[in-house]
Amino acid sequence: MEQTKFVLDESQLPKRWYNIRADLPNAPQPVLQPGTGEPVGPDDLAPLFPMELILQEVSEEPEVPIPEEVLNLYSLWRPTPLYRARRLEQAAGTRSRIFYKYEGVSPPGSHKPNTAVAQAFYNKKEGRTRLATETGAGQWGSALAFACKLLGLECKVYMVRISYEQKPFRRSLIQAWGATIVPSPSEDTQCGRAVLEAHPDSPGSLGIAISEAVEDAAGREDTAYSLGSVLNHVLLHQTVIGQEALVQMEMAGAVPDVVVGCVGGGSNFAGLAFPFLREKIVGREIDVLACEPAACPTLTRGPFAYDFGDTSQLTPLVPMHTLGHDFVPPAIHAGGLRYHGVAPLVSQLVLDGLVHAEAYGQTDVFASAVRFARTEGIIPAPESAHAIHGVIEAAARADEEGRERTILFNLSGHGHFDMGAYDAYLHGELEDFSLPEEEIARALQAIEPLPKPAGVS
Ligand SMILES: Cc1ncc(COP(=O)(O)O)c(C=O)c1O
Repeated sequence: MEQTKFVLDESQLPKRWYNIRADLPNAPQPVLQPGTGEPVGPDDLAPLFPMELILQEVSEEPEVPIPEEVLNLYSLWRPTPLYRARRLEQAAGTRSRIFYKYEGVSPPGSHKPNTAVAQAFYNKKEGRTRLATETGAGQWGSALAFACKLLGLECKVYMVRISYEQKPFRRSLIQAWGATIVPSPSEDTQCGRAVLEAHPDSPGSLGIAISEAVEDAAGREDTAYSLGSVLNHVLLHQTVIGQEALVQMEMAGAVPDVVVGCVGGGSNFAGLAFPFLREKIVGREIDVLACEPAACPTLTRGPFAYDFGDTSQLTPLVPMHTLGHDFVPPAIHAGGLRYHGVAPLVSQLVLDGLVHAEAYGQTDVFASAVRFARTEGIIPAPESAHAIHGVIEAAARADEEGRERTILFNLSGHGHFDMGAYDAYLHGELEDFSLPEEEIARALQAIEPLPKPAGVS
């Protein structure tokens, strides 16, 4: 019998997170204060985050120890399994071998709790009793609600309105774990009220929801802000995924020459890819592919620039690929990929040519998702399905070139709360959105007055 699943013992849980900042060929540019243009220091961030997370944000140490209490919480669902996708390989008729790391086994159903439990832990340790956050598809909101409940913190979630309406059961999940949830833009914050006044029918966006959560946290002593992606410390926490996968691929007797992940803010991609990029940086040949939606093509069509992380310009200026902070992406079903920016660390790696990005339309993505569900059995989250589509395309290209490749991808979550999207696809009602160059140019006008990163004119 050929082995399908490669599983690790709880004792093999990684004991440290991997910090790619220590190994980057080009250091990322600093995050800036919008008013002065000066680099942001730890004290500037203290109203929003606990000091240990701020220190992780700027750490140059290659490895950061994982606290024992976080390891204990991880053991509820980690280590996660690695699968060989033999049935998908056969159906696709490819000569390549396909493996996937499955993060959907966590209680909320995605990779997001890897950082949620760590963030809740450090906040509690430093005396915060309440966290405020945004959520797109609801995966992050449910992960933070879950983590806060386990650690005894209150949690307030601003959920992008379009997802709030499309995914009522993610909402219920968040409430079942005891968090408070409102659709964003909401009446609960100044930013939300301003957007509603200008656009009463606004579908919302991650940029708007971030503004609301930051405003909430900045206005209350007991509350910190918690972000589910983009920031260095979030990507750091996700590296347990790739570290486990390195060991599991060895168990499978395979060495990946292509590593693939979908990218919203960049955290699940980084989680799988960074430990493999550590090897690429020292010379191993490996293609690393980031997959994004054509409707929100941050890495493939957005310039590398300084921009705000949110719509209301409350955050510092972040060096990243961006479509402009007031870009509101079309209402595609992969809500977690509807973000105007992407993590500075991922942006830097794309800029340096260590990561390559591709964008796909959602009908092609759902065709690949259904193909995967009908062969491997798991219903993928629409976000993760972008990676599946990237893998199927990469395997087809390898076949055309007469190459046999070993492809590893991150199946970042299941799609059990996304059946409305599958329903639309299966009834032929799913739309593709093309994004005209003029719309991107319009949105980018918002960043013209901002400082430019070094080396970019
Ligand atoms: C299952 C899943 N995958 C991927 C993402 C995208 O986020 P990130 O790029 O931070 O992994 C999300 C975001 O909500 C998600 O829910």
